[in-house]
Amino acid sequence: MARLTADLSNGITQLTSRRTSRLVWCFPARRETRVASTLRAASDGIASLTKIGILGFGSYLPSRVMTNDDWAELLDTDDEWITSRSGIKERRVAADDESTVDLAGAAAEKAMADAGVSAADIDEIIVATDTPEVYLPDTASYLQHRLGAGEVTAFDLGGSGCAGFVLALDIAKSRVQSITKKILVVGVELTSRLVSRTNRATAVLFGDAAGAVVIGAGDEVYAEFLSFDSGTDGQHTDILKLETGGTRRPFSIEEARREAHKDLIMDGREVFRQAVRRMTAAAENVIDRAGRLKSEIGIVIPHQANVRIIDAVRKKLGLDEDQMYVNLDRYGNTGSASVPVAMAEAHQEGRIKPGEVVVLTAFGAGLHWAAAALQF
Ligand code: UT7
Repeated sequence: MARLTADLSNGITQLTSRRTSRLVWCFPARRETRVASTLRAASDGIASLTKIGILGFGSYLPSRVMTNDDWAELLDTDDEWITSRSGIKERRVAADDESTVDLAGAAAEKAMADAGVSAADIDEIIVATDTPEVYLPDTASYLQHRLGAGEVTAFDLGGSGCAGFVLALDIAKSRVQSITKKILVVGVELTSRLVSRTNRATAVLFGDAAGAVVIGAGDEVYAEFLSFDSGTDGQHTDILKLETGGTRRPFSIEEARREAHKDLIMDGREVFRQAVRRMTAAAENVIDRAGRLKSEIGIVIPHQANVRIIDAVRKKLGLDEDQMYVNLDRYGNTGSASVPVAMAEAHQEGRIKPGEVVVLTAFGAGLHWAAAALQF
C-alpha cells in the first residue's frame, strides 16, 4: 500500500510505501491542482481503481417530540438555559414499545431502499451504539435477524461514544477494500432509556435516533471516501463515562436503587474544550490526507453535541456559517446517530452539491475522535 505526501511549498510530491516507509518516487508538482488530483487518485492505493463509498442513506427519528418547555416541567431548567448553552430546542424520544433494534431497523431499511439493495445483498453489518438492545449479545445480531440478512459477519462498535459511526465507516471501507462487497453501517442511540432523566446537566442534551448507510464499491457511489483519521486519548476516560455495570463497579441492588446504572458522569466544560480541539484537528488531518485544501471544503457535517462547539470548530477551520450542517436544534445530541442522520438530511435537502468535498468529524467518550473526507 502506498501513501502520497505533498509539500506544496516546494512543489515536491512523494509516493512512499506504507509498509516500509521508503520513498518510492517523487516529482516536482508544477501546479497545486495537479498535486491534488494525483493525491486523490492514489492516496488509498487499491481505492484508486474502484471507488469505495456510500451507496444509500437512511435515518429514523421517533415521532414523539420533547421540547425544552416539556423538560422545564420535569426538572429545574428552562428553555433559555438549554437554548443559550447548547442550541437545542427539542429532541425525539422513542415510544415505550420501541427498542434500539427498532430504530436501527427502520433506518437500515431506508438506507437499503435508497441503495437499491435488499437484505440478501448485505455482506456485513456494523452497528455503532452505546445504548444496545441488551447487554449480550450485540445489537448487530438482533438487526441481522430483524432485516432477514444472510448469515453474515455482524458486530457492534460500542463504547466509542459519539465517534462510533465515523470510526465504523473507516472499518467498513477497509473491509470493502479487502473482502466484503456491501456493508450496512448503522449509528443508533436510545439514550432516553439508559441515561438518567433526573440529572438536568445531561438529561436535556440527548435525543433518540438512528442513521444508516450502505457502503460498497463501484462507479455509482453517492460519495467516495477520500480519507479517514481517528484517535484516542485514554487519559480522559473520567470526563464522560457511565461506570456502573462493568467489572470495576459491578451492578448491585444498592446501585440499582439509586439508578447508578443510568448515571452518566460528564465534565461538560472539559468535554467542550476537548471536542473543539479534536474535531478541528481531525477535520484538518482528513483534508490533508485527501490532498485537498481547507478552501475546497463544501460542507462539514459535525457531531451534533452543542452549537457552540460546532461554531468554535467552524471558526478554527475558517469556514462560513452555511458550511456547517446543524440540526441539533431539532434532535439534540443523538450520539452515534448524529452524523449519519445529519448526513442523510443534508443530502436529502440538497445541501450537498454534486462534486463537493464533505468532511465528517466527531468525538465522544474515551476520548475518541474520528473524521472522514468524502467526495460527493
Ligand atoms: O457527545 C458528547 C457529549 N457531551 C458534550 O458534548 C458536552 C459538552 N459540553 C457542553 O455542551 C456544555 O458544557 C454544557 C451545555 C453541558 C454546559 O454548558 P456550560 O456553559 O459549560 O455550563 P456549566 O456546566 O458551566 O454550568 C453552568 C451552570 C451551573 O450552575 P452554577 O454552578 O453556575 O450555579 C449548572 O448547575 O448551569 C447549571 N446547569 C443548568 N441550569 C439550568 C446545568 N445544567 C442545567 C440545566 N438547566 N439543564
